[in-house]
Amino acid sequence: MKVITEGTAKILLPSLPENISSDMPVFYNPRMRVNRDFTVLMVRYLTKVLGRCLKIADPLAGSGVRAIRILKETDRIDIVCVNDRDSRAVENIKMNFEENCIKENRYRIFHEDANIFLRKEGKFDYIDVDPFGSPVGFIESAILSLKKGGMLGVTATDTAPLSGTYPDVCIRRYGSKPLKTEFYHETGIRILIYKIFSQGAQFDFSLTPVFSYSYLHHFRVFLVKDKGAKLTNRNIHKNTGYIVFCHACLYRSCLRDKCSMLKCPLCGEMLDYAGPLWIGPIFHRDVVDYFSKDIGSVNVSRETYKILNLIKEESKVNVPFFYTLSSLAKVLKKGRVPSLNKVLREFEGVRTHFSGEGFRTRMDYKELREKFSVL
Ligand SMILES: C[S@@+](CC[C@H](N)C(=O)[O-])C[C@H]1O[C@@H](n2cnc3c(N)ncnc32)[C@H](O)[C@@H]1O
Ligand SMILES: [Zn+2]
Repeated sequence: MKVITEGTAKILLPSLPENISSDMPVFYNPRMRVNRDFTVLMVRYLTKVLGRCLKIADPLAGSGVRAIRILKETDRIDIVCVNDRDSRAVENIKMNFEENCIKENRYRIFHEDANIFLRKEGKFDYIDVDPFGSPVGFIESAILSLKKGGMLGVTATDTAPLSGTYPDVCIRRYGSKPLKTEFYHETGIRILIYKIFSQGAQFDFSLTPVFSYSYLHHFRVFLVKDKGAKLTNRNIHKNTGYIVFCHACLYRSCLRDKCSMLKCPLCGEMLDYAGPLWIGPIFHRDVVDYFSKDIGSVNVSRETYKILNLIKEESKVNVPFFYTLSSLAKVLKKGRVPSLNKVLREFEGVRTHFSGEGFRTRMDYKELREKFSVL
């Protein structure tokens, strides 16, 4: 047995090979610690805003590390229901709960398909969907098994289709066209959010993203569930649509209807597009502020701190689609690339966690181009 410590959890694993893959007897990926750190922070936030003891589901649990961390690193958890369809995972989960001395009345372990488990055992205050690859097959069950006001955490590791490397796969799986640009990761996250939102909308549930990030090979989004056709309609009108984009001059604009603009208003080239996707905010300030205050109380990784610090800055200019220095310099044929600090000052911009050379600004693109050219 291999022993791993993550946060306050001690995890026993049959083995931990150098190459992490879905063929492992029990799946545990140390590089997904960031993902679990943010789950812990989010559950702590949720206990505060809901003001009640929570019922939590971990339907694709692997070793059980996430559920154990939730129980040991947050207060006011009523019960965590842990599930995996792999019998070796279920045996391992049992062993790990005993190893961590978790009281038996605080958890239940299930050995089912995740969709059956969720539909039988709901309603939950928090559900964490953390599959291999795409989460699409689990989203509907998760939404239906969530209480009103509950929170859904979703991981997607199929970032290549979502980011435009395999557009056909993205269209088939998510019903949206991706776009290969300098902000491809942001487009991918917004397509993922749209998919979850539209899955809820068909039942008059409105799923609103409150915190999202991209790190290494995964996307992560957290959404709050509200009920009501009016609210859902409002979100459809205000926060969903398309982005049109000019590959020649980098002009971009968010539109409700992709057909309403065909040619670039700046250079006259044909516009490309991505969508439908979520064009509203992907971070909420109160969540980011709470995480920033609370993070010192949780044993999280250095990377988690780094991502949160960047998002703290990024969420101050909560407008969609960032720019990068190199793509602007290339299109504007600028030999000397200005420093990011200078650009942030001139354009009242903020950094983005999506790219080390990226920034967001509220400035109109026409004005930005003119100013960037003479920086
Ligand atoms: C990416 S791993 C989960 C990792 C875990 N959440 C963590 O944080 O370490 C996905 C897990 O889902 C399980 N799984 C895959 N498809 C499933 C299904 N349809 N129903 C239930 N479990 C499933 C696999 O056995 C695997 O343990
Ligand atoms: Zn153009």
